[in-house]
Amino acid sequence: MSPSTSALKFKIRHAQPRVTATERERLLANPGFGRIFAEHMVRIRWNAARGWHDAELTPYAPLSLDPGTSVLHYAQAVFEGLKAFRQARGGVAAFRADAHAVRFRNSARRLALPELPEESFLEAIDVLLEADHDWVPSAPDHSLYLRPMMFANEVTLAVHPADEVTFLLIASPSGSYFPRGVKPVTVWLSEDFSRAAPGGTGAAKTGGNYAGGLLAQAQAAEQGCDQVVWLDSHEHRWVEEMGGMNLCFVFGRGPGARIMTPALTGTLLPGVTRDSLLVLGRDLGLITEEGRISVEEWRSGCEGGSLTEVFACGTAAVITPVGAVKSPRGSWTVGDGGAGEVSMRLRQALVDIQRGAAPDLHEWLYHASVSSEG
Ligand code: COI
Repeated sequence: MSPSTSALKFKIRHAQPRVTATERERLLANPGFGRIFAEHMVRIRWNAARGWHDAELTPYAPLSLDPGTSVLHYAQAVFEGLKAFRQARGGVAAFRADAHAVRFRNSARRLALPELPEESFLEAIDVLLEADHDWVPSAPDHSLYLRPMMFANEVTLAVHPADEVTFLLIASPSGSYFPRGVKPVTVWLSEDFSRAAPGGTGAAKTGGNYAGGLLAQAQAAEQGCDQVVWLDSHEHRWVEEMGGMNLCFVFGRGPGARIMTPALTGTLLPGVTRDSLLVLGRDLGLITEEGRISVEEWRSGCEGGSLTEVFACGTAAVITPVGAVKSPRGSWTVGDGGAGEVSMRLRQALVDIQRGAAPDLHEWLYHASVSSEG
């Protein structure tokens, strides 16, 4: 993919560099996840009368919000998470930016927010990457994590869809989401809490879904687990997601292995990494399937040996193996508790495409029009 032209005109205001090039390289060498930010941000405003307007690139800076700003009270907000990678042959590309633009629109619609046209979403990325390409790390496993977001900026305590909205795009050079990298995680099956219910906001990328999960995550930690696994809200039986990521189950081994991920019933987030792995799995000759799996099947599959690997997938964490499961009804190990062969093959295939080390057969890379390389 290459950049398209948006109907919005972006005003460009460059920042005075906050840090020296040496300090930047020091920060990029060990970025952690989501704790340092690049020099610029993109802002676009929307109101009911003018639609999208005042698109600008500005220095990254704190916001000043009236305490009566609607989002602080009623959480009318959506976000995305995607990554830009330094390419093996030079340049910078964002992975599946178009798919993230579409999901951002879908999330906005569910939260009664205005839909940002895809071309403006892509141009915002282009404008930010042009200004901050020096902040794209080059180490393997590092990337520039892009965080588009949109929130109700109207100052009112009345509960209604905001008639003033702000879109922001910020960027955070990032390493592994989990401090232990691709080491397998232990998960806690939550029977007390639900992430989403039919008719709710589970399929939208909105902060409330994450806020509502924090208490269950704390409960998982009390049980000595790294992450919480969400079950369906009705029977507490069917597996849906892990923390803020989708889950995949691998049955069998070798060339005949089958990958199954819970189907998108409306309560799951339609993960872009999940979708990419279904495609890559087929490319690698594996059988892929969207279906459903109960807690009992998860346990008996592991105990009987037919279920060989389980992994979580998402933009931030890429692929993270699940090594062990704990629940109020018992505990079990997945495979030998380590990272599985299929999980690691898929992970490698994905990161090779993201970094331009393997052909981009599905045209998933959005090549930013960066004019100079730092
Ligand atoms: C992602 O995988 O990008 C996510 O959005 C998960 C989390 C960091 C919120």
